[in-house]
Amino acid sequence: MKAVILVGGFGTRMRPLTLSKPKPLVEFANKPMILHQIEALKAVGVNEVILAINYQPQVMLSFLEEHELKLGVKITCSQEIEALGTAGPLALAREKLLEEPDKPFFVLNSDITCEYPLKEMIEFHKTHGEEASIMVTQVDEPSKYGVVVLDEDTGRVKKFVEKPTVFVGNKINAGIYILNTTILNQIPLQPTSLERDIFPLIANEGKLHAMVLRGFWMDIGHPKDYLTGVTLYLDHLWRNFPSALAKGPNIIGNVLIDKTAEIGEGCLLGPDVVVGPDCVLQSGVRLSRCTLMKGVRVNSSAHVSGSIIGWHCTIGQSAQVTSIAVLGEDVHVSDTLYLNGVAVLPHKEIRSHYTKPEIVM
Ligand code: GDD
Ligand code: MG
Repeated sequence: MKAVILVGGFGTRMRPLTLSKPKPLVEFANKPMILHQIEALKAVGVNEVILAINYQPQVMLSFLEEHELKLGVKITCSQEIEALGTAGPLALAREKLLEEPDKPFFVLNSDITCEYPLKEMIEFHKTHGEEASIMVTQVDEPSKYGVVVLDEDTGRVKKFVEKPTVFVGNKINAGIYILNTTILNQIPLQPTSLERDIFPLIANEGKLHAMVLRGFWMDIGHPKDYLTGVTLYLDHLWRNFPSALAKGPNIIGNVLIDKTAEIGEGCLLGPDVVVGPDCVLQSGVRLSRCTLMKGVRVNSSAHVSGSIIGWHCTIGQSAQVTSIAVLGEDVHVSDTLYLNGVAVLPHKEIRSHYTKPEIVM
């Protein structure tokens, strides 16, 4: 079985992190986002993953080459010259997908996290026997997603409305599909949207079925949602793989620490904290609801909360970084500073306080 991961887009909402690497390679809980997906696909028998890409393909490919061998999955790239939207890339990958004309294929948005109950989805797709299956989940704020109205008994989708301006329902498209290759006959090789052009069409024809996703789900394409996604993911680890999480008197709630990180005396970590490889926390550091990428150094008594700290940053002694601050790669914050909600571009030295959210260029 094959899978297409929609990797395009410039990841603008995840800047400044995406100024250093493409969004799918940004680590989520100490693993590049896209690896969570490829591993889940491999686990249900997918043997080729096609990355639909329109930005920085070289970086992606050289990274994934290494994992191709490790994971035993063929990883290929389908590169767009112009952005083809969410459906156009399937037309571009048509030849590859038609190598197995009778087998359905997966399509995934690259910026989501969940438990990936893909086996259940394959069963669901087989059982209803129609052209397309999508996973749906329930959210409180449906307007920023694709809303799906379904027949609760049969799972047949009655209506698909992308980013509705009036309330249609609160079940939304989770960005995971199984499609039969026949759908390729309806997708032209030009910028086309699955959500605006194709799904409403096949829903009308009664060919689209939706399965309600078990467990947690989050679109992690925005820093605030990324941090919520981490919280949900760590809670999932706590329920299912508790040994993956840190334990001890200095740990509060769910905390994931890479084994190469050094934690000083008297630190207090948690809840909902991820500490990446080669991080060094000096004594008395306080971390809550935050992610430190690889090689971050936090000097003594500094405090990081509700923030994402990019690769190889330094947080000075007694400094405080808070409220969805996102520090790009290699940013150095001087001692005792207060940074509130800032987005700092890579390779900066910060020498003054920032008391309200702004972009530091
Ligand atoms: N190859 C390629 N080319 N990929 C693209 C392109 C493109 O031109 N445009 C977007 N993508 C990829 C993005 O990288 C992402 O993985 C996926 O398609 C969805 O695009 P987003 O920009 O993240 O869309 P969204 O979050 O506003 O909405 C989508 O996801 C929601 C769930 O998170 C829609 O699918 C909604 O219906 C859905 O509810
Ligand atoms: Mg998204």
